[in-house]
Parts: sequence; structure tokens; C-alpha cells
Amino acid sequence: MADQHRQAAVVEFDHVTKRYDAPTGRDKGKPTPGAVNDLSMKVPAGKICILVGPSGCGKTTTMKMINRIIEPTSGTIRLQGEDVTGSPPDELRRRIGYVIQQVGLFPHLTIADNVATVPRLLRWDGSRTRARVDEMLDLVGMDPSIYRGRYPKELSGGQRQRVGVARALAADPPVMLMDEPFGAVDPIAREKLQNEFLRLQEDIGKTIVFVTHDIDEAIKMGDRIAVLRTGGKLAQYASPAELLMYPADEFVEDFVGADRALKRLALQRVRDIDLWTAATVRSGEPVAEARRKIAEADIDIPLVVDDHGRPQGWLSERGLAGERVRPELRSRAEPLVELDDVLRDALADLIESEVHYSPVVDPDGCLAGVLSLEVISQSLHVPPERARTSTELVEPAGDDAVSAEIEPA
Ligand SMILES: Nc1ncnc2c1ncn2[C@@H]1O[C@H](COP(=O)(O)OP(=O)(O)OP(=O)(O)O)[C@@H](O)[C@H]1O
Ligand SMILES: [Mg+2]
Repeated sequence: MADQHRQAAVVEFDHVTKRYDAPTGRDKGKPTPGAVNDLSMKVPAGKICILVGPSGCGKTTTMKMINRIIEPTSGTIRLQGEDVTGSPPDELRRRIGYVIQQVGLFPHLTIADNVATVPRLLRWDGSRTRARVDEMLDLVGMDPSIYRGRYPKELSGGQRQRVGVARALAADPPVMLMDEPFGAVDPIAREKLQNEFLRLQEDIGKTIVFVTHDIDEAIKMGDRIAVLRTGGKLAQYASPAELLMYPADEFVEDFVGADRALKRLALQRVRDIDLWTAATVRSGEPVAEARRKIAEADIDIPLVVDDHGRPQGWLSERGLAGERVRPELRSRAEPLVELDDVLRDALADLIESEVHYSPVVDPDGCLAGVLSLEVISQSLHVPPERARTSTELVEPAGDDAVSAEIEPA
């Protein structure tokens, strides 16, 4: 099963333009502006590509040309290297899952029948289809024994969205098109669906073309983001970090928003950046040894740790007065930041606790480094190709020397 889920395909737009037919009525005969204008971009296999831009900029049109609901006026779209016009639309649509804008479940069909739509088209036998339906409902977190026989109107908005995803995945297509899949639910349900979907994508690894109006959703969900401007022109195609660091022009800059530095922090986790080091000392250890460690660390105040390496607090000067370290603290090790925290939340913790830096712990609670305002600020200046984000693994930032001259609060 897992192998089956792992198939994905490259989707490639090559100078694709779409003009709708000339208008009728008063404007009859006037040339129409392009809905999509000379679009070229490549969506790598197994990645999420977000199409984002203002209403009417051609997102849905772009998406519908992939599965030939709409035919381009000119240019070529290739799926795993093959021109999509080489495949009959029916056959193509079985290889491409589609979650349409506003979910679009069939209201008169049960949830099971909705999910079974494409397997039935493919004439799978009954038992295989039933097994697949249950598997898909499980996959999107809906107990088949409860929901299989229900009708769409008996579900919440978020549940309907999940069924829409289950239906699109049912025939295990290598490509999924999702048109504002989470657009119709409240912000809290939306965030939950987004997180679930990202987790799901780690398992299924599909090539996903995903439309949204919402730049925050784009930044969170996308491996790559295509920003379209009115008239269907591609303004920028880049990774989220690149988009936030180097918007191509004023339009993208405005679209991304004035708070792009903060958005960038929401993309990075504490484990992705170079932390400061602190000396760790234990109660009773020789002061000479402690002083040697302190000299090597980025911060000149040592952290007292327990026998498991868990930070207790920052040692006071008096703790180093004798032969052996006495666990006299100047302050407790607070807040404790975790490696998996996103930088934006960690920054909020530092600000709230009114400290310049604080210890970072690994999942076992052991010291992993020290996060400081300086380290966070530096991470904003790392060029995007060197910045690590949750979706891209690139070499971490270099070994720029950091000096620690500030005192803990
Ligand atoms: N069938 C059609 N005939 C003529 N013009 C169309 C047709 N469908 C879409 N358009 C026009 O093409 C442009 C792009 O439409 P499209 O639906 O792709 O936009 P969109 O980016 O998906 O917008 P939204 O965010 O509102 O869903 C719009 O100006 C729209 O009015
Ligand atoms: Mg649309």
C-alpha cells in the first residue's frame, strides 16, 4: 500500500495561454484579455505547488487545464513528460484527483458512494471498492463505520472537506488538484485540516497543485508558490522562504504583506538555526573545570543541569566562588524553548518572559543550545537558498562567530 501511495508525477506548463471566447453583447468581437498568459513553470514530483493571487487572476483556469476541463489556447501541459492532450479527458481525470472549489460532494449519494466515484468509473469490483472507501475514510480521520452510510448534509463543513480529499485520493492518482480545498471552513477547523493534510502528504507524497486566496495558507502548505497577478501572468514562482525574502516586485511584496519577516519566522523551527552554546555545570563539579567550559561557550554564564542534562537555571557568580560548584542560581531556566517550536512562538516566549536568551531543550528535556534575540534576528538575514524551512533541506547557515555580551535578565 505504502509503495502504491508513493507514485507522483512532474507537472509542467510550457508557455500556456488561455483566452476565453470573445464576449457577446456590447463587447462582442473585442479581443478578450488572457485568463492565463504565457505561463511556464514546473511542479516537481511529490511536491505541493500553491497557486495564489487575487480573485479572477486565473488560478482555477490554470488548474482546470491540467485535467482538460479547459483546453489551453496555446502552449503545452505535460504530465510526467507526456502532453496531456495525448490522453482522452476521461482517462486523464482518473489519473488526476480533483477537489473542486466548494467541495462539491454529490448530495444524493452516501459518503461511501461519493468516495467510490472514481473506483466505480474504473470498474473495480465491489469488495475492492468497499475496502478502498474504508481505507480512505480512515486516512482522512473519519471512522468508516460511522460515516460510510451518511449523506453530505449530515456532516460538518470540515468533515465534508475531508470526504472531498478522500474522494480525490480514492484511485490513488499521482497528481491531485485542490481548488481552495479548505476555503469553506472556519479558521480553527481550517488550521486543523491543513495540519492533517500536511501529515497525510508525508505518507502519500503526491504531486499537488493547490489553489488558495490566502497567502498565509500558501506559505504554510507550499513547497513552491506561484503568485499570479490579474491577467493570468506569473509574478513569481519560488519557495516560501525565497518569496518572503526576495519578493520579485512591488505586487508580490504587497501580496505577501508588510509582516513578511514575522511570516518567515513562522516557517522556521528552532532546530533549523544555529544556536548559541552555553557551558553546563553540575552541582559539586570542580570550579576549575566549569571555568574551562565557560571559556569555550558562546555565553559566559553557565547553566546548572541535573544528572540527566536537564537545565535547572543560570548559575550565579557565588556558585563559582569555592573549589566546587554550588548550585546557587541567579535565575531559573525559563522559558524553556523546544527544538520543534517555530521561531515565531519562541520569540513570543522570550518577549513575554522579558529575557534576551533562553535554553533550548530536546524532546528528552536535555539542553540542546541557547536561543537568543540575536540568533533569531540573524536567521532573518540568512539568504533563502541557505535557510532551512520545513519543506526544504539545504545546508544550515555557516559558522559565523557570535559573541555573547549580554547578561541574562
Ligand atoms: N467560462 C468563462 N468564460 C469567460 N471568461 C471566463 C470563464 N471562466 C473564467 N473566466 C474569466 O477568466 C479569468 C480567470 O478566472 P478564474 O476562474 O481562473 O479565476 P480564479 O483566479 O480562480 O478566481 P477566484 O479566486 O475568484 O476563484 C476571470 O477574469 C474570469 O472572469
Ligand atoms: Mg477560482
